[in-house]
Amino acid sequence: MFVTDPTQAAQTIAQGYQFDSTALELGTVSVDGQVDPTAKVRIPLAMMNRHGLVAGATGTGKTKTLQLIAEQLSANGVPVVMADIKGDLSGLSRPGVSNDRITSRASQTGDDWSPTAYPVEFVSLGSQGIGVPIRATITAFGPILLSKVLGLNETQESTLGLIFHWADKNGLALLDLKDIRSVIAYLTSDEGKPELKAIGGVSTQTAGVILRALTNLEAAGGDTFFGEPELNPKDLLRLAPDGRGIITLFELGDQAANPVLFSTFLMWILADLFEFLPEVGDVDKPKLVFIFDESHLLFNGASKAFIGQVVQTVKLIRSKGVGVFFCSQLPTDIPNDVLSQLGARVQHALRAFTPDDQKALSKTVKTYPVSDVYKLDQALTSLGTGEAIVTVLSEKGAPTPVAWTVIRAPRSSMEAVAAEEITAAAKASPLYQTYGTAVDNESAYEKLAAKMLSPGESPDAPAPTPPAQAPAPTPAPVPAPAPEEPGMITEILTSQPMQSFLRNAASQAGREFSRAIFGTGRRRR
Ligand SMILES: Nc1ncnc2c1ncn2[C@@H]1O[C@H](COP(=O)(O)OP(=O)(O)OP(=O)(O)O)[C@@H](O)[C@H]1O
Ligand SMILES: [Mg+2]
Repeated sequence: MFVTDPTQAAQTIAQGYQFDSTALELGTVSVDGQVDPTAKVRIPLAMMNRHGLVAGATGTGKTKTLQLIAEQLSANGVPVVMADIKGDLSGLSRPGVSNDRITSRASQTGDDWSPTAYPVEFVSLGSQGIGVPIRATITAFGPILLSKVLGLNETQESTLGLIFHWADKNGLALLDLKDIRSVIAYLTSDEGKPELKAIGGVSTQTAGVILRALTNLEAAGGDTFFGEPELNPKDLLRLAPDGRGIITLFELGDQAANPVLFSTFLMWILADLFEFLPEVGDVDKPKLVFIFDESHLLFNGASKAFIGQVVQTVKLIRSKGVGVFFCSQLPTDIPNDVLSQLGARVQHALRAFTPDDQKALSKTVKTYPVSDVYKLDQALTSLGTGEAIVTVLSEKGAPTPVAWTVIRAPRSSMEAVAAEEITAAAKASPLYQTYGTAVDNESAYEKLAAKMLSPGESPDAPAPTPPAQAPAPTPAPVPAPAPEEPGMITEILTSQPMQSFLRNAASQAGREFSRAIFGTGRRRR
């Protein structure tokens, strides 16, 4: 350590964390192993929309830090959206239980700790999860995010973009996976091929790869995520009757098998919120804070287009009053362009076992302001559990002094809530009325399919005109194929009525869907 008097050093650091406006209490300063309960480390509430990073090796206290931040946002009337990847944030809905460790942490951090439960809404993606099922339509999801979920390469991604563009131009709403598969099947059929050519050099082979990827996603349960009712972003911005912000927890549950889908879905929600929220400029407190735990999942193998769009979203959503916090083991998991947008840094202990660890460590040190109190490379590898090296943005937007911080203990339970109890809470939620049951609204394709399979039966279809000539020999009755039978959709799409439907759709001016940030579509309301 460079400074001899730890108390004085702690107080000097804490001066950099004294703000006039409301601030979140992260914890207190530790210098040379001495914790000063009066030397507070805080984040101005008004700066939460300047985003942040919580990082650290496994078991170092990242999730508890997120829990603490979420609690205080809620208490200040700010709604929070978080991914509960490991299920250990569900305790937010229950009061914590005091014990010796909590009592001693409370006294170290100058905290008048009292057990508190927070208003939590448990949601899941699609109908196979434990929370209220949340869905998106394919049209709204858009090609960039869908490519990420499908694991497409950049060529395939741009092909998917062209296919969406064609569907958008023709005013074709794609509600679920079936719909996008139908469009691709049509475009690769003999009849559709000229259209495929017209939208610009898309190879049938690439289209085939995408089609297979879609089939795999469907087989992996993806069909329950895509469809209606689609999430209304308003439902994430709610306050409890007592004025506290509601914390929406995305429960991963059994969906841990497909974390890429999960994290991409959260990105869609963020992009959708961006479209939905008005510009507000700087605010006293954010409208919402969005927290991505395990955010390396979002960036692993991500395309340039995808990362570019994350950067754009994060940059621009600030002025809509939304803060985004990323959480990951290593700060190097987050692309540099994203990192540079994150104002607050809460860095828990890093390991330095391997040369890669060492590299990450020295990179991390460089992202901090110079400290005349700590040797950062040493500090970062010697932090205890629930301690972090912190710097945030002051109310004026300047980085605060680097602080070795003992983080406060969350006031809600640090134990996970059982899955059955989460499901019971979800079923009792008002959101369940809106989203509990999937609605299979007919998309244009299904309507047409129905007409063709049973001519005349559809109430709005004109009765078929009897043939003028002598009846042709009656063909043997063909049983209607089951809706999912492979090949059926292709048949329908390449048929004459479908062709005229498509032409007709194309000629209806003004129905084109517009695409916004991330290529997400305008919602169909
Ligand atoms: N602020 C804190 N107050 C009290 N206890 C804490 C705090 N932070 C961490 N702990 C203790 O450390 C344990 C591990 O913390 P946590 O689950 O947050 O780690 P993590 O970094 O999220 O780990 P992983 O990478 O495995 O998800 C907690 O179960 C808790 O006992
Ligand atoms: Mg964790």
